Amino acid sequence: MGFHFTSLLLTLLLFSTLYSKSSSETFKCSTPSTCHSLIDYISPNTTTFSHIKTLFSVKNIRSILAANNLPLSTLPNTTIPANQTIKISFPCLCINNTGQSNNEPIYTVQKDDGLYHIAAEVFSGLVTYPEIAAANNIPDVNLIKVGQKLKIPLPCNCDDVDGVKVVHYGHVVKAGSSLELIAQEYGTSKDTLLKLNGVNDSSLLAGQLLDVPLQACNSSVRSDSVDYPLLVANNTYFFTANNCVKCTCNAANNWTLQCEASGIKPSKLVNLPRNAM
Ligand SMILES: *[C@@H]1O[C@H](CO)[C@@H](O)[C@H](O)[C@H]1NC(C)=O
Ligand SMILES: *[C@@H]1O[C@H](CO)[C@@H](O)[C@H](O)[C@H]1NC(C)=O
Ligand SMILES: *[C@@H]1O[C@H](CO)[C@@H](O)[C@H](O)[C@H]1NC(C)=O
Ligand SMILES: *[C@@H]1O[C@H](CO)[C@@H](O)[C@H](O)[C@H]1NC(C)=O
Ligand SMILES: *[C@@H]1O[C@H](CO)[C@@H](O)[C@H](O)[C@H]1NC(C)=O
Ligand SMILES: *[C@@H]1O[C@H](CO)[C@@H](O)[C@H](O)[C@H]1NC(C)=O
Ligand SMILES: *[C@@H]1O[C@H](CO)[C@@H](O)[C@H](O)[C@H]1NC(C)=O
Ligand SMILES: *[C@@H]1O[C@H](CO)[C@@H](O)[C@H](O)[C@H]1NC(C)=O
Repeated sequence: MGFHFTSLLLTLLLFSTLYSKSSSETFKCSTPSTCHSLIDYISPNTTTFSHIKTLFSVKNIRSILAANNLPLSTLPNTTIPANQTIKISFPCLCINNTGQSNNEPIYTVQKDDGLYHIAAEVFSGLVTYPEIAAANNIPDVNLIKVGQKLKIPLPCNCDDVDGVKVVHYGHVVKAGSSLELIAQEYGTSKDTLLKLNGVNDSSLLAGQLLDVPLQACNSSVRSDSVDYPLLVANNTYFFTANNCVKCTCNAANNWTLQCEASGIKPSKLVNLPRNAM
């Protein structure tokens, strides 16, 4: 009895040790909450906005355009060259000290897919295969079925940073970059990046995912709105009120969100937030 219990404990310990190693890129977040987050996707092959929309289960291509501050007139079939970085906007859920995308993207298993291929290649290493297995309660990583729907748990975070509300951005480190350069480019400090990610320049690796807090603009969307708190990252725009309102953030407006009617017809009738406009 005692022996069995001990070996069970050892097995569990070993299991969880291996587990935390393979999920070294998950972001910690301490406050249970939801928010929206951004993450870099670098397609290994030539791709299009339509394809990225499908891959990441994004409802509208305009949310991808908005996250990248691209014109709304950009065509869905526009070619995106291999290795170009595209930011994806997605809903984040912080629970149990981990931030993960909230039930999306959903990936449908194709013929000849394996979990490793899906994690490392299709989603370019933004997740690991044990993370996909854990998120979908898959006991045997070698057993997945064609047509099976898999939740892909993208890392994210909703925590305030130094008491300030931010939009967390999963940034893929480029070769030859440094914490100082990344901090400069995204308006944060080396110290903040160091603390959030537990990395320093000697441990920084190209291709690594870093939690980068982006300064955001604030809104007056009322607190019971589904989009509350509406934080829009520097140099991006965002649709709210069922797409009726387009809100833009840039530093030039003193971090005040600039909102206007988007001209997009709502897909269904909703009550507009009282003071969204
Ligand atoms: C993209 O779609 C537009 C219309 O939807 C079409 O006119 C154009 O030829 C397409 N371009 C490519 C590269 O497929
Ligand atoms: C994309 O980047 C990878 C790794 O840096 C490189 O091996 C590959 O050749 C690049 N592909 C293209 C089309 O530039
Ligand atoms: C969070 O932790 C609790 C208690 O350990 C557990 O019951 C719950 O399933 C966990 N939730 C998620 C989403 O992992
Ligand atoms: C990229 O293209 C190669 C060659 O066509 C293919 O083997 C690979 O699966 C593609 N990768 C992705 C992520 O689609
Ligand atoms: C946004 O506004 C609320 C109240 O108006 C304030 O408490 C909060 O600190 C502001 N957030 C940011 C990021 O400025
Ligand atoms: C805001 O974004 C602009 C454009 O990308 C950039 O030049 C600026 O440094 C950013 N500022 C902050 C504080 O994030
Ligand atoms: C950088 O981080 C690595 C791994 O966490 C650690 O071993 C090393 O001592 C750190 N170096 C400095 C200069 O802090
Ligand atoms: C910008 O915001 C700060 C703090 O909210 C305020 O003190 C300052 O007057 C504002 N500047 C302008 C030009 O609106």
